Amino acid sequence: MQSAQGEKLEVLVSAKDIASRVQNLGKRITLDYQNKPLIMIGILKGSFIFLADLIRAVDLPISVDFMSVSSYGTSTKSSGVVRIIKDLDHSIEGHHILVVEDIVDTGLTLNYIYGHVKSRGALSVKICSLLDKPERRQVAVPLHYKGFEIPDEFVVGYGLDVDERYRNLPDVCKVVRTNG
Ligand code: IMP
Repeated sequence: MQSAQGEKLEVLVSAKDIASRVQNLGKRITLDYQNKPLIMIGILKGSFIFLADLIRAVDLPISVDFMSVSSYGTSTKSSGVVRIIKDLDHSIEGHHILVVEDIVDTGLTLNYIYGHVKSRGALSVKICSLLDKPERRQVAVPLHYKGFEIPDEFVVGYGLDVDERYRNLPDVCKVVRTNG
């Protein structure tokens, strides 16, 4: 895909590797939640492509809900102050919850979401993230299901953006600034 002027994209995790990992995660989730009422909660916007693929790899009668949060800070640095833009549509009482996120960086956003969802009376709350940048962690977050660990690079694609660009890339890519 064409990159914006002054930027070059380098594939870090290929669409093929993502697809196979998603199938693997889906199988594990299917086994772990047999006969348990499960709601999978996508965190908008970054998780929308991952969630869409993951739920189709889960062979269970699940429900789906979404939350949207905004984390104050610049486009590439999270501040840890989180505001809920869109809360859950339905009660989660009596259900098991799997929060689906695109990436855990400092952990501040997910730490907030985890606490918020846990306070709503779910039977259990677990977290699934496509990507994990462990080097940047500031708060420990329990990552029960993980796609890939990546180095401390800012990445885009497969739902992730920089200033709303590149969400539609099929691969996860790192953005390299060029002078041209
Ligand atoms: P945290 O609160 O620092 O863990 O950041 C979590 C959120 O920051 C993610 O849900 C993403 O929306 C965004 N984010 C962190 N790292 C990246 C990245 O490398 N590319 C795109 N978005 C990122």
